[in-house]
Amino acid sequence: MINDIIEISRIAGKIIRDGFRTNHSIEFKTNESNLVTEIDKKAESAIIDFVNKKYPGHSIIAEESGEHKTSSEYSWVIDPLDGTTNFAHGLPIFSASIGVQKSGETIAGVVYDVMRDKLYSAELGSGSFCDSEKLSVSIESNLKRSVLVTGFPYNVYENPNSVIEKFGAFIKSSRAVRRLGSAAIDFCYVAEGVFEGFWEVSLHPWDICAGKLIVEEADGIVTNFANEPININSKQILATNKWVHADMLEILNKF
Ligand code: IPD
Ligand code: CA
Ligand code: CA
Repeated sequence: MINDIIEISRIAGKIIRDGFRTNHSIEFKTNESNLVTEIDKKAESAIIDFVNKKYPGHSIIAEESGEHKTSSEYSWVIDPLDGTTNFAHGLPIFSASIGVQKSGETIAGVVYDVMRDKLYSAELGSGSFCDSEKLSVSIESNLKRSVLVTGFPYNVYENPNSVIEKFGAFIKSSRAVRRLGSAAIDFCYVAEGVFEGFWEVSLHPWDICAGKLIVEEADGIVTNFANEPININSKQILATNKWVHADMLEILNKF
């Protein structure tokens, strides 16, 4: 199955790459910050057609077309283009993210970093990889020497969950904080040891599914802000190398 997920991720990636900086249509979803382009939809249809042909009967949860539930124990969780704001503005940081669950447990996940042509993958119990290179999280345990990453929900102007205060506190207590604009890529950089930690206050199943497995299979941990195990329906996520987890939880719970 992992080879099929890789194959369709690359197909979606080609659609996205070919559409980058072209004259594609852009629509608003909930507000003027929350965009969807015709390329998001084109990539999603290609993925869904592939799944329906190769794995007929499997359930699908996809960002742009919603839930296609069946009685199958398998479910594909799809973000066809993670980083749409970057894509729409010509910034080359975005990915296709596809996870597969069996009976509610993620068994495989792929994040394809389209413009760097880097393919991150993991299968439950088998480690995670960037192309053929095995990944492991960083061993840094000092938050002051850590580089962190976060993202903001599309209603950030309402400051949900004190997202702005949390951001400010991490700026003061780490080496640096980045905001790349693709949650799936943020997870992968934690798995790769680039970032020590990634937090976000409000994500969706398709942002989390593949990336969470990739972090866990690289020996990292992913919890909510109460340090509880999460599933893909959790909104809050804290993904770290595990060594800075407690310090990050302390800051997240101050606000
Ligand atoms: C968004 C990106 C962003 C994160 C947002 C997500 P989209 O996904 O992952 O980094 O901060 O919370 O919604 O809308 O580009 O698929
Ligand atoms: Ca997303
Ligand atoms: Ca998306």
